[in-house]
Amino acid sequence: MATRRVTRTEQLQQTILYPVDWLEERSGLVGGLKYFLFRKVPGDINWFQTLGSATLTAFIVQALTGSILAMYYKPDPNSAYPSIQHITNDVWAGWLVRGMHRWGASVFIILMFMHMGRVFLFGAYKYPRELNWVIGVLLLAMGLAEGFTGYLLPWDQTAYWATVVGINLNGTAPFLGPFIAQFLQGGTYINADTLARFYAIHMLLIPGAIIALIGLHLYLVVRLGVTSPPWSREAAGTGSIIPSRNGGRRGLTRPRPRRSR
Ligand code: HEM
Repeated sequence: MATRRVTRTEQLQQTILYPVDWLEERSGLVGGLKYFLFRKVPGDINWFQTLGSATLTAFIVQALTGSILAMYYKPDPNSAYPSIQHITNDVWAGWLVRGMHRWGASVFIILMFMHMGRVFLFGAYKYPRELNWVIGVLLLAMGLAEGFTGYLLPWDQTAYWATVVGINLNGTAPFLGPFIAQFLQGGTYINADTLARFYAIHMLLIPGAIIALIGLHLYLVVRLGVTSPPWSREAAGTGSIIPSRNGGRRGLTRPRPRRSR
């Protein structure tokens, strides 16, 4: 009886693991995911180091809610505002999805700034992570541009005038400014082409670029490892061969055990 039960458990395990093994044998993806999830990180990392993952979660929420909104939104001057009203008032849970996307945009930007602040204060932008900082700056610019292009889409008075101000500001920048303003407007004033252009940029161009940049960003995080907090004894520089005045300790570090003579 007992032997039969073990066999059944084994059978169940094999059935569950079969597709996983199938995928692993053909792609190595499962091993890659395991490496990503169970890789070594410094023992004294803390909650501040979850801000990057929080930003990633906020982006995923934006992508999901945005995809749902795109099923109902119509990027045309006559239908854009009515379609937004339809989403808010008629579509089931439309108000919720729209609210999540609208407020989520601010959450995404705020989290990005907080994550950037953490990276700056921990000195995590220094060698060898300079390239990841540069990629981060590009992500920040893309995130802000995503907010700007999304703001026009409801096609109401606030959206229209905010975009007029934004485009005019862009137009005053030296050299490329007037060209960028002209390109964004799709002409000399805001019209139907502007809305179509903003929609394409908001829906395809920038999200695509953000996904590619996040892929590169995370690849570098895994490749270079996560930095220890600056007060850590493991932090780069604290175990320096040049003795510092407090014996290599900084901030909240626990005192080092004395060496026995
Ligand atoms: C879409 C936006 C972003 C996402 C999804 C994202 C995601 C992440 C994640 C998951 C990590 C590893 C965990 C952590 O350190 O929190 C990380 C690390 C890092 N991020 Fe970002 N990030 C974004 C934007 C930025 C920005 C705006 C900057 C700076 C300008 C930046 C610079 C860095 C650097 C230098 C690291 C390495 C930190 C370390 O090794 O301790 N990231 N990012």
